[in-house]
Amino acid sequence: MDTVDLSAMFHALADLFEEGSEEIAAIGAAALRRHANAMVPAEHISLTTNAEIAAILQTPNALPCAAQVSKVLNDLSWHYSGYDDGRITENVALRMQTVELIGAHGMIHDDTCRVGLFAQTADTDYIIRTHAAEELFVQIAGEGEWCKGDAPYVVRGPGDRMHHASYQPHASRTTGSALIALWVWAGELGYDKYDYKG
Ligand SMILES: [Fe+2]
Repeated sequence: MDTVDLSAMFHALADLFEEGSEEIAAIGAAALRRHANAMVPAEHISLTTNAEIAAILQTPNALPCAAQVSKVLNDLSWHYSGYDDGRITENVALRMQTVELIGAHGMIHDDTCRVGLFAQTADTDYIIRTHAAEELFVQIAGEGEWCKGDAPYVVRGPGDRMHHASYQPHASRTTGSALIALWVWAGELGYDKYDYKG
């Protein structure tokens, strides 16, 4: 079994969390640093969305940590977002890929939070959703429109931070560009508290 060294990416992602002052960012950064030296089995997963995500990481305005993500992109335990458990309809789920790096279902087990990467291909509308966990996204590369609560959609790019309170409705949609973001969940971590409208 070959393994992958995620330490450089984990420290780069922790640095990105620490560029903000949110309490949940500190939780995510601490988890990444705590597990940075873990040896993890390489997964060799390549979804149909993978080429588009690999390309968006190479764009000129991608954050510096995109280079670290690129190096291990094909070694991460990616899956289509919400597809295996039927949470998201197939035509949308097969256009988005997620990996839980750290968490109860993660590549590295941890019950205190979930930390991962989320990527959405171009021209994909990920409808309004709510969940019990508090959540922070930090966009790494690409462009998309995000909304939360009753506010209108706002265009977001690399470095933008989208912080969602527990049960606060939020959505993301893309047009001409894919996007990839770092995420962390804290608080009530169950996927059974996930809901969709739209
Ligand atoms: Fe969310």
